[in-house]
Amino acid sequence: MNRDEILCTCMDITKGEVEDAIKNKKLKSVRQVQDETEAGTVCGACVDDIFLLLEEINGSVEE
Ligand code: FES
Repeated sequence: MNRDEILCTCMDITKGEVEDAIKNKKLKSVRQVQDETEAGTVCGACVDDIFLLLEEINGSVEE
């Protein structure tokens, strides 16, 4: 998935937007990403992708 691809179709949020939020705001959990970006707050189908992105950037994911 590249940065311009939509990660959360419900909220129309790209992978790059989520990536930047995780890096710039030092987000550690799926919940924090949901609160900051609203990605993953509707159907939940993209939650696994958010989790993987957190893991890729931070090396781990907090509850
Ligand atoms: S695709 Fe992200 S909440 Fe539905």
